[in-house]
Amino acid sequence: MTFKPARWPRKLRSQEWFAGTSKDAIYHRSWMKNQGLPADLFDGRPVIGILNTFSELNPCNAHLNDLAERVKHGVYEAGGLPVIVPVFSVSESGFRPTAMMFRNLAAMAVEETIRGQQMDGVVCLVGCDKTTPSLLMGAASCDLPTIMVSGGPMLNGYFKGERVGSGTHLWKFSEAVKAGEMTAAEFVEAEASMSRSAGACNTMGTASTMASMVEALGMTLSGNAAIPAVDSRRRVMAHLTGRRIVQMVKDDLKPSDILTREAFRNAVRTNAAIGGSTNAVIHLLAIAGRVGIDLSLDDWDAWGRDVPTIVNLMPSGKYLMEEFFYAGGLPVVLKRLGEAGLLHKGALTVSGGPIWEEVREVQNHNEDVILPADEALTQSGGIVVLRGNLAPDGAVLKPSAASAHLMQHRGRAVVFEDIDDYKARIEDEALEIDETCVMVLKNCGPRGYPGMAEVGNMGLPPKVLRKGITDMVRISDARMSGTAYGTVVLHTSPEAARGGPLAVVRTGDLIELDVAGRRLHLDIPDAELQARLAAWTPGVAPPASGYAKLYHDHVEGADKAADMDFLVGCRGNAVARESH
Ligand code: FES
Repeated sequence: MTFKPARWPRKLRSQEWFAGTSKDAIYHRSWMKNQGLPADLFDGRPVIGILNTFSELNPCNAHLNDLAERVKHGVYEAGGLPVIVPVFSVSESGFRPTAMMFRNLAAMAVEETIRGQQMDGVVCLVGCDKTTPSLLMGAASCDLPTIMVSGGPMLNGYFKGERVGSGTHLWKFSEAVKAGEMTAAEFVEAEASMSRSAGACNTMGTASTMASMVEALGMTLSGNAAIPAVDSRRRVMAHLTGRRIVQMVKDDLKPSDILTREAFRNAVRTNAAIGGSTNAVIHLLAIAGRVGIDLSLDDWDAWGRDVPTIVNLMPSGKYLMEEFFYAGGLPVVLKRLGEAGLLHKGALTVSGGPIWEEVREVQNHNEDVILPADEALTQSGGIVVLRGNLAPDGAVLKPSAASAHLMQHRGRAVVFEDIDDYKARIEDEALEIDETCVMVLKNCGPRGYPGMAEVGNMGLPPKVLRKGITDMVRISDARMSGTAYGTVVLHTSPEAARGGPLAVVRTGDLIELDVAGRRLHLDIPDAELQARLAAWTPGVAPPASGYAKLYHDHVEGADKAADMDFLVGCRGNAVARESH
């Protein structure tokens, strides 16, 4: 795509607040001047909002104030006026009931923070899982020039000489304790070794996946995704972003110019190549919805189907983000996709030029981290979309994290009605379950949990683990952490709490999973299924008030991005009325 920059100079949006000698203009400038800002900073130069998700209760983003200052340097150098603005920061590790329940609230807050205030361009400082999609969703709905800057991943963790990855080893060590292979004291000892520096999860979990997604979409400067949080080059990335956003405002290069269907195709294929998180499915659908791009679950399946997973990172592979950075990071992956004919080379990025120009010259510095195609972790790394009478609106599975011997499986369902039921019974030695069974978890979808918790990778029963078994087929309407693994069918839609077929599965029913055939089937007569569905009633009363009620009443299904129905779409940045 060829982008034609706008004419410059011209009157910017911020001048609606700051220009002239009216009472309102003086009011707006005067209050800003209490920060010691000289008068000429209000002369019509681009005002850049640096949206900062710093929070000490969001440890993955707790270092962002430093990056905000670096962006500020760059904006000043390029002749803009930078303003740091704190925004809603959703922590994956702490927010209850789930971080996902607040992605849409954060996106709504970000959108109104931008629209309601005197900004011409936006730099989004993000990191932990939900912060990246929520800020881009909000920014896309306003459509002011925007660049994303990630906080970067933590340095590698090590425990007893073994590389340990955020999340991935939490699940592994937890299962090892249950199987009697690790003591509880060793588990506690491993705790600090998993998080040895500032930054986000160091596996190819959701944070690193979403950092890669926004780079593949063209919404960051090239190379953003993998630079470790504490590497000085992360500061340089922030600094250069500050310079670049000022020119983007002058050129009027907006998210809607960059976030095309081709850009989303690039991102979906990138997700397959990196072995990215299933959460990217929901977040990219939501971002596309904010700019009116028609992106569907079927696009995910079709576009990723022939893309090998070449990034050898946990949870699918062996290494961590630090090694991915040293190997060359995402630009190497994009180059490899381009060479294989799997990249839309002309897709525009925040640079103002095509993505191919950013990556065509890069080198792979470690072929054990970014693998040759014939040594890929899997030749078909794309997210699989399953359908059938158990998932009429779709369900997803990540093949690079699944077990080959379970890709075609028929087994007896062992049903857990909700997460509390699962927790209460999973360690019961009397539970009738073995490795041939299919574990089914209900009521963990967008409306059910509420907020679609990351519990789909249910831990296996101890009596199965003790046999040395490490994987079973698991089906739910939940999500799974991007750091998790296993033959796990997720996002089953419609969810149980809306009366989807998942709601009426009973222990003892037979379920067929056929990944190659993209099929998820509950093996009961159709008349029986219809009779069960007709008799279904919701088990839990909806919330009566507060955000929980707004969320419950308006959140859509996982197949529709779990966005709120009234937030879909781009509403632009126009302010309807002056404040005084
Ligand atoms: Fe924040 Fe993983 S918990 S990035």
